[in-house]
Amino acid sequence: MTIFNVNSETIKKAVNHLKNGNLVAFPTETVYGLGADANNPEAVKRIFSAKNRPANHPLIVHLARFEQFDLWAQNIPDSAIKLATHFFPAPLAIILKKRVDVHTLATGGQDTIALRVPNHPVALELLRAFDGGIAAPSANKFCRISPTQAQHVAAELGESVDIILDGGACEIGVESTIIDLSGDKPTLLRFGKITRSELEGVLQMEVVIPDSLAKINVRTAGMMATHYAPLTKSLRCDANELSILLADVDKKMGVLTCGSQILSTQNRKVIALPVDSVIYAQNLYAKLRELDVLKLDLILVEKPPQHEVWQAINDRLNKATHDATY
Ligand code: TXA
Ligand code: MG
Repeated sequence: MTIFNVNSETIKKAVNHLKNGNLVAFPTETVYGLGADANNPEAVKRIFSAKNRPANHPLIVHLARFEQFDLWAQNIPDSAIKLATHFFPAPLAIILKKRVDVHTLATGGQDTIALRVPNHPVALELLRAFDGGIAAPSANKFCRISPTQAQHVAAELGESVDIILDGGACEIGVESTIIDLSGDKPTLLRFGKITRSELEGVLQMEVVIPDSLAKINVRTAGMMATHYAPLTKSLRCDANELSILLADVDKKMGVLTCGSQILSTQNRKVIALPVDSVIYAQNLYAKLRELDVLKLDLILVEKPPQHEVWQAINDRLNKATHDATY
């Protein structure tokens, strides 16, 4: 595995690697992706084995332009055109009926496909130069924290990735919003930077949130504990619970605050994140990683506000940590 700075030479190298069926990790505006030629079943298989990802877990295919969507999808509805025209390139993946000639490896055996035009100059340059679809999940082991820096990818995947294009830290820091437009009603499948209200504003119709997603967002401690998760036991708590838990001074703890003023001590490493959803999201995964390698007994994460702009963050925290009150 080699980490490359991005220039026209290294983009060319990356394209050759993709054409040869190898894996290339690259930056997007959300998180780093682990890319393979979406049309090459052997290459796509390598993604699943590098990540230890179950084969029925579908991938997002990245494209340079919305105009390429009809090479992958059929019956593309007006709603997709509206969203694409308004947002793309953007942290938004759209699920559509796949064309029958698109193989089902990247789609996890389903007859639908997730497509997205990422808003990152390196991702777009790579996609244009490759001139095809790049299947790319987040470049982490299955269920672990998504990487937002090239070094994170190297630490996660080591030699199972051939090239990492280093585009610096990702600007958004949480994965894309996913909307399913393959059924009767637009349905939100993953919260991201683009909110439900923004989608509804553009579509001028309701976007459905499935019960399971809504429930996860309210409270499902334990159930989803393995997603986006640090290896260290992690609890999310309000300011009150935080002060109670911190009274146990013998435990080695990491604390990710959001508003509370807490000092680091010999046994306690405090990282303060601001009450600003944009900066918080940019830093969340990197800071969780930073705490996770310290071999602590416990990581405490102060719960951020509940406002809609925090929804993607709260969703990821709900999956990465247990509720302290549970
Ligand atoms: O921000 C992102 O979307 C990043 C960057 C690299 O683009 N990618 C990413 O991919 O987060 P991944 O594989 O970690 O998450 C993709 C999600 C999975 O939860 C998968 O289940 C869902 O998209 N997905 C993909 N295709 C689908 C389909 N046809 N139907 C339902 N869900 C699908
Ligand atoms: Mg992922």
